Amino acid sequence: MSKSDQIKAIRGMNDVLPLDSHLWLTVERVCADIFDNHGYSQIRTPIVESTKLFSRSIGTETDIVSKEMYTFDDRNGDSLSLRPEGTACCVRAGIENGLFYNQQQRIWYVGPMFRHERPQKGRYRQFHQIGAECYGWDTPDVEAEVLAMTAQIFSKLGLQKTNLQINSLGDKQTRVDYRAALLSYLEGHKGALDEDSLRRLTTNPLRILDSKNAAVQEVLVDAPGILDYLSEQSANRFIQLQRYLDSLGVDFEINQRLVRGLDYYNDTVFEWVNEDFGAQATVCAGGRYDGMVEQLGGVPTPGFGFAMGLERLILILKEQDIDQNHKPKQPDVFIISDLETARSQALVIQQSLSSSGISTQLHCGGGSLKNQFKRADKSGAKIAIIIGEDEVLKKTVGIKPLIRTDHSTEQQNIVQNDVLNAVTNLLESL
Ligand code: HAM
Repeated sequence: MSKSDQIKAIRGMNDVLPLDSHLWLTVERVCADIFDNHGYSQIRTPIVESTKLFSRSIGTETDIVSKEMYTFDDRNGDSLSLRPEGTACCVRAGIENGLFYNQQQRIWYVGPMFRHERPQKGRYRQFHQIGAECYGWDTPDVEAEVLAMTAQIFSKLGLQKTNLQINSLGDKQTRVDYRAALLSYLEGHKGALDEDSLRRLTTNPLRILDSKNAAVQEVLVDAPGILDYLSEQSANRFIQLQRYLDSLGVDFEINQRLVRGLDYYNDTVFEWVNEDFGAQATVCAGGRYDGMVEQLGGVPTPGFGFAMGLERLILILKEQDIDQNHKPKQPDVFIISDLETARSQALVIQQSLSSSGISTQLHCGGGSLKNQFKRADKSGAKIAIIIGEDEVLKKTVGIKPLIRTDHSTEQQNIVQNDVLNAVTNLLESL
């Protein structure tokens, strides 16, 4: 087969290889334990949804819906999309399954999301999010709980130099008033706006606040700030959230430019941003979206939540060199067997030890005893079990410590029925 015929992964969609998957599992386990300790239950929703779900909730003018979705007609001619995020899916599932009727919900999810963005470090076309959503509370205590939970995840993982930024987008009236004020200010500085910002003047002027263009950023220095336009209720809510964060010892910075790229938010929005990661520095983001459940046909239900980008989080953890503990597990025991006749005993012993919780690697595929010993040493196992011709005849096995110890490193032979006891005792003594 020629090189050009070789089938490759789709651009922007990556394999998670065995050496990395241990760190992925650690991150997922840390999150799952923390969610569990806070009373969150997992939800699993399909990867493919009706396109309408995302256009109605995320907004037709957003980059995600207007340019980035993987959308196709299925064989019935229905327009479907690969999910670009998880929040709208949780809301759809909640409405469809009656989760919002006279109930409050704390849920979490993990899985792949799809956006047709320009791939680069930390930005992919298939990426993974782990997120949590709360339904039924319109108070800032639940916001503080969620933010403290994300802080706890980062602290458990040892993530450094990642700071919390918060802002409030207020209620509908706030955004109408602020939009008008911002538009009037930007109209006077049109000459300094780039093409993208000029387009956003008519579609979504708040998103101009997010511009990375240096000239636009300079114009924005003197732009009006949204916090001056908050209603009394929104302002009080935002202050109360800050008080809760202070009492929790969760540091934060107020960033009035933080507007988010999805249209569904109101009041509190936030991002956790890494200091060293340039353009793709946001590892976790979210906010309040009190209108979405009703907008998608459910009973009015406030919502608040976040999603973390697992690829970004893992890249940063690796760059900060704190993934040392997440290497593949080294076996306690490595089983070496000579001749075909010993193989079935080796298999039986592996099952007996591993079902008792002892991690056991079996040498498969035969080969000389010398080579098998080399592999046993390389595996990092503490003990080798050896089953050769002699052992098969005498129904015994050889046990030999592979790591340096005060005790003898000589091979001892024991009867096969005693292998579990002997291995347990030897492991304890090493
Ligand atoms: P988002 O800001 O679009 O929010 O995405 C959340 C996180 O997913 C980002 O901060 C980033 O870490 C990661 N992410 C997004 N796009 C990519 C990409 N192309 N490649 C790699 N990582 C990416 C949401 O998705 C909302 N659903 C969050 C939310 C939950 N709001 C309320 N509840």
